Amino acid sequence: KQDDDQLIIDAGQKQFGATTCNSCGMLYSADNPEDNFQHTQFHQRFIDSIKFVGWKKERVVAEFWDGKILLVMPDDPKYAIRKAEDVRRVADNELGFQQMTLSRPTQAKTYLFINMERVVVGCLVAEHIRQAYRVLEQPDRQKDMTKEDFMEHHRAWCCSTVPEQALCGISRIWVFSLARRQNIATRMLDTVRSTFMYGSCLTKEEIAFSDPTPDGKLFATKYCNT
Ligand code: ACO
Ligand code: ZN
Repeated sequence: KQDDDQLIIDAGQKQFGATTCNSCGMLYSADNPEDNFQHTQFHQRFIDSIKFVGWKKERVVAEFWDGKILLVMPDDPKYAIRKAEDVRRVADNELGFQQMTLSRPTQAKTYLFINMERVVVGCLVAEHIRQAYRVLEQPDRQKDMTKEDFMEHHRAWCCSTVPEQALCGISRIWVFSLARRQNIATRMLDTVRSTFMYGSCLTKEEIAFSDPTPDGKLFATKYCNT
């Protein structure tokens, strides 16, 4: 019995021996035709979405040795808006959002981090808000719940019911998988704090993250405590 199980596991590992594409970052198995097909489908569209050709007018809000941050505003030229949307779609896709659901699209500011290879490796969407609900530690009760129950009660459980003052809501933050843990998200947020409101620098408390993912929570906790 045990030998049979072992055989199956080995076969599985052979077939699904996965590799990460070092230009699009997708994890896939090169010897699985379906996987290969999915990768080919994804690869070029992704590369096109994040490549940056340069613009006639760029609103550079920060510069670093390894890249720069551009700010795109709702009234900017079409080419800038389109690129911001392309990158946002890539981010949404990875975050599992079905469609773009900005609460006030006309007010949103998009920050793009462009690296030295002219690739957009970071995207942050910031919106004006008045108040936010602090995320609380999650209780342990979720263990024996169905997924639907969990989703339904999730928000109620993990957010405080007392609104707190906040000025800037981060509705998306995304960094290209191959460029993570290089302080790109940190630098984008620092830049938001110093440029979001003209003439004043926002504190970490005046910034709120909407519906953070597990990655987002780990990052936000670290960012807000340091
Ligand atoms: N696990 C544990 N700690 C983390 C993680 C992680 N996945 N990501 C960041 N941190 C902490 C670390 O302490 C890190 O410092 P260190 O690298 O010196 O240890 C610190 O945060 C700063 O991290 P950055 O390098 O600035 O973050 P990065 O550029 O990698 O971007 C991000 C973080 C945006 C969450 C990225 O992982 C990502 O794009 N993930 C997928 C999309 C996503 O989930 N986005 C958040 C959605 S929530 C929202 O949009 C409101
Ligand atoms: Zn690829």
